[in-house]
Amino acid sequence: MIVIAYLLGSISSAILICRLLGLPDPRSTGSKNPGATNVLRISNKATAATVLLLDVLKGTLPVWGAYFMGVEPIWLGVVGMAACLGHMFPIFFELKGGKAVATAFGVLVPIGIDLGVLLLLTWIIVAKSTRYSSLAAIVTVLLAPLYVWLLKPLYVYPVLMLSALIVIRHKDNISRLIKGTEPQIS
Ligand code: G3P
Repeated sequence: MIVIAYLLGSISSAILICRLLGLPDPRSTGSKNPGATNVLRISNKATAATVLLLDVLKGTLPVWGAYFMGVEPIWLGVVGMAACLGHMFPIFFELKGGKAVATAFGVLVPIGIDLGVLLLLTWIIVAKSTRYSSLAAIVTVLLAPLYVWLLKPLYVYPVLMLSALIVIRHKDNISRLIKGTEPQIS
């Protein structure tokens, strides 16, 4: 399941959908991130929503699969981590992947719908009030270990590792946010 999760995570929906629609490679335009936010910059809401949904499913499907196979919580965390690492360092796309925010959300939803709702609400509140997708992701990811500790403490260590990885992947966004040059969601 760890290998399957990594391979599934490595399928970059943003790159594939952009290729299919004749759009520029999201890794060469905008924020250069192959994710739904950057696809929104170069296309439209429907295309970005499709990328978002597929990226969420890449996290949800392997974790759900492993859960129904009776895999223990700590290993479920490893399966989820493998899906996110696949998205960040895809074997099919020269290891140049995204930040895994949507995939990590997909990983956490099977752990608990209450957790998923809290994460989604946090993202929406920050995104609506600041109009920065990256800031919404960073705040949500930083709060995720706290939510998990309160609701599903068994998973707190894998989620801590995942959160740290995702924040590190946002280092360019963080420096643009500090300089005031980060683009807002239009
Ligand atoms: O989910 C990715 C988001 O946090 C940042 O995307 O394209 O603005 O770097 P982007």
